[in-house]
Amino acid sequence: MLRTHHLNALRAADQDQTVTLSGWVNNRRDHGGIIFIDLRDAHGITQVVFDPTHNAEAHKAAEHIRAEWVLQVTGKVRLRGEGLENPKLDTGAIEIIVEELNVLNQSKTPPFEIGLEKDIREDLRLEYRYLDLRNQRLQRNLKLRHDMTRVIREYFDSQKFLEIETPIMVKGTPEGSREYLVPSRLHPGEFYVLPQSPQQLKQLLMVGGVDRYFQIARCFRDEDLRGDRQPEFTQFEIEMSFCTQEDVIEVIEGSFHALTKQCAPDKNWEKYLENGKFKRMTWQQAMETYGSDKPDMRFGLEFTDMTAEKEGCGFGVFEGAERLFAMNVPNGAELSRKDIDELTDIARKHGAGGLAWVRVGEDSGPVMKNSKPEFIEALVKKTNAKDGDLIFFGAGPFLQAVEPLGVVRLAVGDKFDLKDPNDFAYLWVVDFPMFEQKEDGSIQAAHHPFTRPYAEDLERLESDPMSVRSHAYDVVLNGVELGGGSIRIHEQALQHRMFKALGMEEDELQMKFGHILKAFEYGCPPHGGCAMGLDRVVMLFAGEPNIREVIAFPKNQSAQDLMLGAPSPMPEKEVAEQNIAVLVEED
Ligand code: AMO
Ligand code: AMP
Repeated sequence: MLRTHHLNALRAADQDQTVTLSGWVNNRRDHGGIIFIDLRDAHGITQVVFDPTHNAEAHKAAEHIRAEWVLQVTGKVRLRGEGLENPKLDTGAIEIIVEELNVLNQSKTPPFEIGLEKDIREDLRLEYRYLDLRNQRLQRNLKLRHDMTRVIREYFDSQKFLEIETPIMVKGTPEGSREYLVPSRLHPGEFYVLPQSPQQLKQLLMVGGVDRYFQIARCFRDEDLRGDRQPEFTQFEIEMSFCTQEDVIEVIEGSFHALTKQCAPDKNWEKYLENGKFKRMTWQQAMETYGSDKPDMRFGLEFTDMTAEKEGCGFGVFEGAERLFAMNVPNGAELSRKDIDELTDIARKHGAGGLAWVRVGEDSGPVMKNSKPEFIEALVKKTNAKDGDLIFFGAGPFLQAVEPLGVVRLAVGDKFDLKDPNDFAYLWVVDFPMFEQKEDGSIQAAHHPFTRPYAEDLERLESDPMSVRSHAYDVVLNGVELGGGSIRIHEQALQHRMFKALGMEEDELQMKFGHILKAFEYGCPPHGGCAMGLDRVVMLFAGEPNIREVIAFPKNQSAQDLMLGAPSPMPEKEVAEQNIAVLVEED
């Protein structure tokens, strides 16, 4: 090695040792005669000192050194002395007095200063990702991701899961989002598709007699990007045969126990457990109580159903609504009119007609002015409100009443600082509805079409699909959906019926799913599984605000890799070889 120690190794006890160190110049400070350089590597930072009275030649050379040059220095470890120590560095008690300098490489002036936690435009960071990655925070994230991946492998191995790779060039596995296509040169006009997840392949492994499968799998989805979404991302995911929902939940929960204990030992998570297990809630309860299918359980602000009490209450907005929910904010009177206006905008953006409110004990606002005293009395009683509290309302059809109020709940949680970053509140949400309604009124699978409907709800599959529950479950942490899975349909006839219920015509269904229906004719075992978004899990463990911070080479919010310059136009000849004609040329 071109060093005797890495840059987070030396301490006061190493005084007087002669060492050789290598790394990048984090910064250089010329203190009239003496030059200090903070040398950086993946492990940390060590200060090296060039003193002309010690080695005039090295000092002279050091005058020309710039940020991000690559140096090798040899010298003695010495104590910095009282008052000169840097408590921010692990190596802050010592420095190296340089006897020999070897410039291993020079660097152009980088487009941004590395390691500064100031706002650097993200597109610039991504264009120069190799420089951005030198930042110690990103180095820590890469290490954390590595450690978590190792814990996951060890855990599933201990539970007798086989790691099996599934292909990346597949036939479409429609799960809801648009797919990435790969043209086939050998088969003109035909395409492979990049998998949205290994969903069908892992089910086919179960048909193939594999008992327990797991994979750390790349998935590809051409969907609108947000902070917790990338066009390509990673899942750690499983499938097991001859299992119940309880078995899958137990195995997955075990993986999070292992991950939390080994990779986030300082988080408060045990106080959220019930009998040593993650809390559970049905989708219906989650929506009614928190207005979200992934509620943040670090704080309360639960909803109260006021539908029965609102009849004849006197306030038109409520009387005309199908459902009414109230959320009491303790000490909410502290919220100003401006705060309330902001929250109203948030509610409106999420589909509410407005955000009615009541200041408890105060005669203000349209609700208080227009409703009968009996309603206010019942409201205060049912929500356990006291003077100085503020109650918000969501009125409308069920989802339209609770969902905007759920978003308001999160915003109020921020305003009152209720989301403790040191807490990990895990939760299972179970019994998802089988279907959800699209904007045009048609239905689609809430999870995916392979999800098993409740046997007792099956008779309503065609007549009242929105009332059908499914054996689908999500694991949630601090308001983020980490993963989801389900017990699957394993009978050919039921799977066929499900596709039909989703409005698929026979020929479309055969073209898209013929292969899986065929496989199901040959003794498919009962099976189920689950998939977790690894990037999201690492993001939460790292305390990062978005998943790009925990991916070595992420795409930006427009799905571009700015470092590589992808996607990019291809030479016409290569495109033609793929039997492709480009119809639109952008910019
Ligand atoms: P689902 O579509 O819910 O289920 O995905 C599982 C988990 O993958 C993560 N995830 C993403 N992460 C980053 N960027 C994205 N674009 C993205 N999309 C999803 C989320 C999500 O919870 N085959 C089923 C699982 C199963 O039934 O076994 C599936 O993929 O954390
Ligand atoms: P006004 O129009 O002055 O009678 O007040 C109506 C109040 O109800 C306002 O505070 C609105 O923000 C609120 N509001 C309107 N529609 C809804 C809704 N669907 N849910 C909750 N509050 C609403």
